Amino acid sequence: MTAPEHLVTEEEEKAIKAELPEIFSRFPRERGSLIPILQAVQGRFKFLSPGAIREVAKYLDLSSSEVYGVATFYNQFRFHPPGKHEIKVCMGTACHVAGGDIILENFERKLNIKPGETTPDREYSLERVACVGCCALAPVAVVDDHVIGYMQPSKVEGLFVQFEVQREKEKREKQAKESAG
Ligand code: FES
Repeated sequence: MTAPEHLVTEEEEKAIKAELPEIFSRFPRERGSLIPILQAVQGRFKFLSPGAIREVAKYLDLSSSEVYGVATFYNQFRFHPPGKHEIKVCMGTACHVAGGDIILENFERKLNIKPGETTPDREYSLERVACVGCCALAPVAVVDDHVIGYMQPSKVEGLFVQFEVQREKEKREKQAKESAG
């Protein structure tokens, strides 16, 4: 996996870069700060952009590939910007036993991305997560912070129909506003 340069615009990278010195200033400039700095950067921007990884490397006098290698070793780091809709599929034991992997596969196929990735239009991101505490509803997905229990492939389809309807509605509202203004 490589960092998704194509998903992050130059303006976004610029905006991120502008905030990094303040984040870096909270940590000693030494190798031991690498993970805490990456955590702080992700805490602020929700992901580690390619530019942020380069800047962290520069700050700690490491190579970008070294920083990237360390970051990919830990599951907690994301390298894709979050999608407008964040889809998380629970892979805890209860959900796994109840077919969570089939649900994840359904989302992967529908979106044509893997967990940890974001669609090129940045509408959707997909993640696998550990137990979200609703095991009685297994298998569970969390979509935009709403827990959806007893997931089935047909519910995956239904979700995208809803998103489509919502998108159509937003488009029409925008057009109406534009023609009114
Ligand atoms: S294992 Fe999925 S909610 Fe607990």
